[in-house]
Amino acid sequence: MARLWLSVTLSLFNFHVFVFSQSSSSQVSGDPLQYVDTLIGSTNGGNVFTGANIPYGMAKPVADTDSDSDQGGFTADNANITGFSSMHDSGTGGAPSLGNFALFPYASCPGDDIDRCTYPKISRKMHYVNDSLKASPGYFTVTLNSGVNAEMTAAQHTSLFRFNFPASTDGTSSSPLILMDLTDLQDSRQDNGTISVDSSSGRMTGGARFLPSFAQGTYDAYFCADFHGADIRDSGIFVNSRASASVHDLTISRSINGYPLPGGGWVRFKEASSVLVRVGLSFISSEQACNNAEAEIPSYDFDGVRSAAVDAWRKKLSPITISTAGVNSSLVKNFYSGIYRAYVNPQNYTGENPNWQSSEPYFDSFYCIWDLFRATFPFLTITDPEALTEMIRALLDIYRHEGWMPDCRMTFAHGYTQGGSNADIVLSDAYQKGLTNGIDWDTAYDAVIKDATVEPYDWCCRGRGGLDSWNALGYIPVQDFDYKGFGTMTRSISRTLEYSYNDFTISRLASGLGHSADVEKYVSTSSNWKNLFRPDMPSFTNGTNTGFVGFFQPKYLNRTWGFQEPLKCSNIDTNASSICSLQNTGAETFESSIWEYTFFVPHDMGTLIKDLGGPSAFVRRLDYMHDRNITYIGNEPAFLTVYQYHYAGRPALSAKRVHFYIPRFFSPTRDGLPGNDDSGTMGSFVAFSMMGLFPNPGQNVYFITPSFFESVNITSPVTGKTARIRNVNFDPSYEAIYIQSATLDGKAYTKNWIDHSFFTEGKELVLTLGRNESSWGTRLSIQLAAVELAR
Ligand SMILES: *[C@@H]1O[C@H](CO)[C@@H](O)[C@H](O)[C@H]1NC(C)=O
Ligand SMILES: *[C@@H]1O[C@H](CO)[C@@H](O)[C@H](O)[C@H]1NC(C)=O
Ligand SMILES: *[C@@H]1O[C@H](CO)[C@@H](O)[C@H](O)[C@H]1NC(C)=O
Ligand SMILES: *[C@@H]1O[C@H](CO)[C@@H](O)[C@H](O)[C@H]1NC(C)=O
Ligand SMILES: *[C@@H]1O[C@H](CO)[C@@H](O)[C@H](O)[C@H]1NC(C)=O
Ligand SMILES: *[C@@H]1O[C@H](CO)[C@@H](O)[C@H](O)[C@H]1NC(C)=O
Ligand SMILES: *[C@@H]1O[C@H](CO)[C@@H](O)[C@H](O)[C@H]1NC(C)=O
Ligand SMILES: *[C@@H]1O[C@H](CO)[C@@H](O)[C@H](O)[C@H]1NC(C)=O
Ligand SMILES: *[C@@H]1O[C@H](CO)[C@@H](O)[C@H](O)[C@H]1NC(C)=O
Ligand SMILES: *[C@@H]1O[C@H](CO)[C@@H](O)[C@H](O)[C@H]1NC(C)=O
Ligand SMILES: *[C@@H]1O[C@H](CO)[C@@H](O)[C@H](O)[C@H]1NC(C)=O
Repeated sequence: MARLWLSVTLSLFNFHVFVFSQSSSSQVSGDPLQYVDTLIGSTNGGNVFTGANIPYGMAKPVADTDSDSDQGGFTADNANITGFSSMHDSGTGGAPSLGNFALFPYASCPGDDIDRCTYPKISRKMHYVNDSLKASPGYFTVTLNSGVNAEMTAAQHTSLFRFNFPASTDGTSSSPLILMDLTDLQDSRQDNGTISVDSSSGRMTGGARFLPSFAQGTYDAYFCADFHGADIRDSGIFVNSRASASVHDLTISRSINGYPLPGGGWVRFKEASSVLVRVGLSFISSEQACNNAEAEIPSYDFDGVRSAAVDAWRKKLSPITISTAGVNSSLVKNFYSGIYRAYVNPQNYTGENPNWQSSEPYFDSFYCIWDLFRATFPFLTITDPEALTEMIRALLDIYRHEGWMPDCRMTFAHGYTQGGSNADIVLSDAYQKGLTNGIDWDTAYDAVIKDATVEPYDWCCRGRGGLDSWNALGYIPVQDFDYKGFGTMTRSISRTLEYSYNDFTISRLASGLGHSADVEKYVSTSSNWKNLFRPDMPSFTNGTNTGFVGFFQPKYLNRTWGFQEPLKCSNIDTNASSICSLQNTGAETFESSIWEYTFFVPHDMGTLIKDLGGPSAFVRRLDYMHDRNITYIGNEPAFLTVYQYHYAGRPALSAKRVHFYIPRFFSPTRDGLPGNDDSGTMGSFVAFSMMGLFPNPGQNVYFITPSFFESVNITSPVTGKTARIRNVNFDPSYEAIYIQSATLDGKAYTKNWIDHSFFTEGKELVLTLGRNESSWGTRLSIQLAAVELAR
C-alpha cells in the first residue's frame, strides 16, 4: 500500500504542475497497476471480490465476512471475519456463490486444549484491525483482532496463504492451530462432505456437494491443503464444537437444520511464527486438486507466486495507456480499477469441467450475460479478444453438451434467465467485430436459431418462453397461455423488447454467415417491439401529467391492451407493493420501468425517435428520465440511455450526461459503486465512458465522446496495432467537453460514431474540443447505420 500511496501523491503533484503550465505534452500513465484499488466496491452493495487472483483465475482467496452483502466474500462494512476461503464470484446479487473450504487460524488454544479453540463459524467469527487491511492485484492481507495476520495470493487453481502468529505475551509458548471448515458462504453444504487429515504431513483432502447461488442443481468441489514452514504437533478433525486428535477421517451429514453441522479438520504446530497453507482446488477430484497445487506452487514461494500474479495483471492492463496530464488522480484510479474488474470473471475452469470431456476451453461464472453483454464482453472484444474467444467457445460447448447456451451460469448450472436469450447478442457482436479464431460459427448459428425457434420445457433457465404466442401474435402477451414450456410468466414487455433485439442480432449473424433466407425473417421479427407501443399512452407522476405520450404497454392474448403504470419499478417508484424482479408476482418489466424500457430499441432508433415525437421531443424525454432520477446508473439497462442522444444528432448531450454520472456516482472509494458490479460491468461502463468510445453491443458501432484524458492509446492484442485518441484543447476541468471538429487518420470526420476497425487497424482519432455544443456529429448518420445494416 505504501507504493500506491506514493504514486497518488506523485500524481497530485503532477496535477499542479500541468494545470499551471497548461502543458500539452503527454504524461503517460506508465505502470497501470499503481492506479488499481481492488477495495473499490467493498461496501455499499458493490459486492466486489477484493481478494487475490490472477485474471479469470479459479482460485480467489479472501477473508469472508458475515455481512448481508458478502457475495464477494469480504466487505469493509465493519462486519466480522468468519474465515478465509478460496473460491468466489464478483459483484453478484442474490445469494452468495462459492466461498468454499474456509481456513481459520489461532495462535494457540486456551489452556493448550484443542477443545477450547472455537470451531463453528457462527461463534469463531472475529473483527479485524482496521488499519491492517491492505489489498492490491494478486494480494490481500488483514490482521484479526486476535493478532493473527493473514496474507494471501493465488495461482490459477491454487491459493497460497501465509498466517503470521504474534509472539505470545504471557510467556507461554504458542502452538498455532489452523482449521479447515467444510463450509461455503451460503451454508449450502449437502450430505456426505468428507475430509481426511494425514497425521504425518498434515495434508488435508476432501470435498463436498453444494448449491449454486442463482440456479437449480448442485455441484461438487474438492480441495487439497498442505502446510509448510512449521513442525506439526498433532492433527485431527472436529464436529460442531468438539475436536479430536485421534480421529483423522470424517464424512459428515448436512443434518436437519438450515445451518449445516460444522465439521472439518485441523492441524496444530509446534511453536511457529508463521505457517504457509497451500490450498489446491478442483471440481473433478481431490487428487486433481493436489496435482493442481503441486504443479502451480511447487515450492511455497509466497513472494514468487505473488509477483507472478502481479505480472499477469500488469500484462492484462497493458493494452491501454493514457495521458494523466492535469487529470485528478482519482479519475485515473477509477479508470484502471474499472478495467481491472473486467478481468476477474468469468472464470477459466478449462480442465475442471466434471460433466464432459472436451478439447474446447471451459469458462464458468457468466454471472449474468444479461449484464455482461452490455459492457464487459464488448470491452474484452477490444482488449482481450483471445479470452473472449475462449469464453464463446465455452458457451458453444455448453450448447453442444447441454442443448442450450445459458443467459446466466455459475458452478456448472444454467442460472435464471432475466429476459431474452442474450448470448445471441454476445455471439453476433463478436462475429461482427471479427473474432473468428477457433470459434465454430456454424455451431454458433445453430445455437442462436435454437434460442429463437425451439421453446425449452424449462425456460426459467435457457432459451425463450411463449414462442407460440410470439409467432402468432408478434409479442409476448401478459398472462400468456403457454402449455409447452414453463418459466416465470412475467416481464412480457421487457421480454418482447429483448427477444426483438436478440432477433436483430441473429439477422446480422445470418447475413454474415450467408443464411440469406433468414436475414429477412429475423429483421422482420426484430420489429415486434412495435406491437407493444401504445402511441396514446400518457404518464403521470403524483397525479401530474409528465407531458410525455407514447409508452410500451402490456397486451393480452386477445390483442387488447393491459395496463402497467409507466413509472412502476423505476428508481422513483415508492410503491412498496411493486415487485420488480423474478418473483411470480413481478411486473411486466424486469428490474426497471416502462419509462426506461421505452428506449430499448437499440437497432431501430430512427423509428423509435419518430414514434416519440421526433429528435427534440426524444431529447426532452431522455433528459427528463435522467434529471428526475427515473433511471438509476447502478443497474445495467441505464448504460445505453446515457449515449442515446447520439441518435437524435446531439452527441454533445451524451458527453454532458457522462459527466453527470462520472464521478458523481462512481468514485475510487470502498463505497464508490452505485450498485452490484455484476462481474465488472460497472467497471467496464466506467472504462468505456472515460475512454470516450461506448459500444452499442450487437452492432459494429461505438459512440464518440471526448475521453476524460488528453490522449488514450489502445493496442490490439491481435494485430499489434495501436489506436490513438487525442483531444486538442483538452480541459481537465471538463468544461470544454464538446467536440467542435474531428479527424480520423488526418481526414475530416463528421460521423458521431466509428466501427471496430478503429481498434484493429490502429487508427487515430483527433477531437478538437470547445466549451459549447457545435454542429459536429449532428447529422443523423448513426440512424442510417443501423438501417443500412438491417437490409
Ligand atoms: C463481531 O463479533 C463480536 C464478538 O466476536 C461482536 O461483539 C460484534 O458485535 C460483532 N460485530 C458485528 C458487526 O457483528
Ligand atoms: C473500524 O472501522 C469501522 C468502520 O469504519 C468503525 O466503525 C470502527 O469503529 C473502527 N474500529 C476501530 C477500532 O477503529
Ligand atoms: C451419503 O452416504 C451414505 C452412506 O454411503 C449413503 O447411503 C447416502 O445415500 C449418501 N447421501 C447422499 C445424499 O449422497
Ligand atoms: C500514444 O502513442 C504515440 C505514438 O507511439 C506516443 O507518441 C504517445 O506518447 C502515446 N500516448 C500515450 C498516452 O500512451
Ligand atoms: C479530485 O477528486 C476528488 C474526488 O472527486 C476530490 O475530492 C478532490 O478534491 C479532487 N482533487 C483536486 C485536486 O481537484
Ligand atoms: C484458460 O486456462 C487454460 C488451461 O489452463 C489455458 O490454456 C488458457 O490459456 C486460459 N485462458 C485464458 C484466457 O487465460
Ligand atoms: C411524489 O410524491 C412523493 C410524496 O409526496 C414524493 O416523495 C416523491 O418525490 C414525488 N415524486 C415525484 C416524481 O415527484
Ligand atoms: C381481453 O382479455 C382481457 C384479459 O383476459 C379481458 O379483460 C378483456 O375484457 C378482453 N377483451 C376483449 C375485447 O375480449
Ligand atoms: C401500488 O401498487 C399496487 C400493486 O401494483 C397497486 O395496486 C396500487 O394501486 C399502487 N399504489 C399506488 C399509490 O400507486
Ligand atoms: C436525484 O438524485 C440525486 C442523488 O442521487 C439528488 O441529488 C437529486 O436531487 C435527485 N433529483 C431529483 C429531481 O429528485
Ligand atoms: C458559449 O456558451 C456560453 C453560454 O453557455 C455563451 O455565453 C457563449 O457566448 C458561447 N460562446 C460561443 C462562442 O458561442
